[in-house]
Amino acid sequence: MLDIKAGDEVIVPSFTFVSSVNAFVIRGARPVFADIRPDTLCIDERHVERLVTPRTKAIVAVHYAGVACDMDALTSIGAASGAAIVEDNAHGLLGSYRGRNLGAIGSLATLSFHETKNLTCGEGGALLVSDRALVERAEIIREKGTDRTKFFRGQVDKYGWVDVGSSYLPAELLAAMLCAQLEDRQRVQDRRRCLWSRYHSELASWAREHHVVLPTVPSSSIQSYHMFYMVVPSPEWRDRLVAHLKARGILAVSHYLPLNTSKVGRTFGGREGQCPVAEQVADVLLRLPFYTNMTDDEQTSVIDCLQDFA
Ligand SMILES: Cc1ncc(COP(=O)(O)O)c(C=O)c1O
Repeated sequence: MLDIKAGDEVIVPSFTFVSSVNAFVIRGARPVFADIRPDTLCIDERHVERLVTPRTKAIVAVHYAGVACDMDALTSIGAASGAAIVEDNAHGLLGSYRGRNLGAIGSLATLSFHETKNLTCGEGGALLVSDRALVERAEIIREKGTDRTKFFRGQVDKYGWVDVGSSYLPAELLAAMLCAQLEDRQRVQDRRRCLWSRYHSELASWAREHHVVLPTVPSSSIQSYHMFYMVVPSPEWRDRLVAHLKARGILAVSHYLPLNTSKVGRTFGGREGQCPVAEQVADVLLRLPFYTNMTDDEQTSVIDCLQDFA
């Protein structure tokens, strides 16, 4: 949609999943890694500002854990440089930023319906197109490069091959499952809000005592309650805590490895020390069990087990 070509640059946070960057790399773009903010773990807009060049085609805003990036700052950087803002809203569906839905702020936004997401059909995703100038081409690319969507609307009497494209339509069975999940979104979100808030309030004093940092949600953002993570004092502390939880049958996991120090990231000029916050957080972040069907008793066992940890 953005006509990305070899030589273009795309600024991405180092602390994200590979999907955020593969989409651009397969078009020949060079990813440029930005660090994250220590409070929200979203892309650091001050670092982005320093990385923009005349070759920057897009800036990727990953709303980490469903908490919004500073979209005002990113939008002005995009407007001043001509770079498109693309939201990777895999975590943030149903969250908002200053009253605007996440996924409806950038020119384009991607959603994920992978099994780990709040609403899922196992695998799959969606592209949200907010820049109206891109809508017509999106419909064509989605329909294997044909104007079939116009045909269905009665705007052409035959449809044909008019552009490049592929088959980006979901299978009907998956779409039906997703549709049911979307209809159930209020119940899903209510339950997740309740689980998230309980972790946050019941772990507050334990966290203070152990120098563990619980997530921050700025007042500009209503989060989507996608995950519950903690930033712990050291990698060794995290290993001991993981083992303590595991011994009681509780699985707690880390998250992304920084892209700038990955095997592929290094081929694009990524190196150690380039994104210090991401590099540090990756070693000390831990996600607690968090899923819509988690019962109160299951959550009680996780909280009790953490509080037993000396
Ligand atoms: C930020 C982010 N983007 C994208 C994805 C994945 O998207 P998909 O597997 O649907 O491509 C994930 C995780 O699964 C993610 O954490």
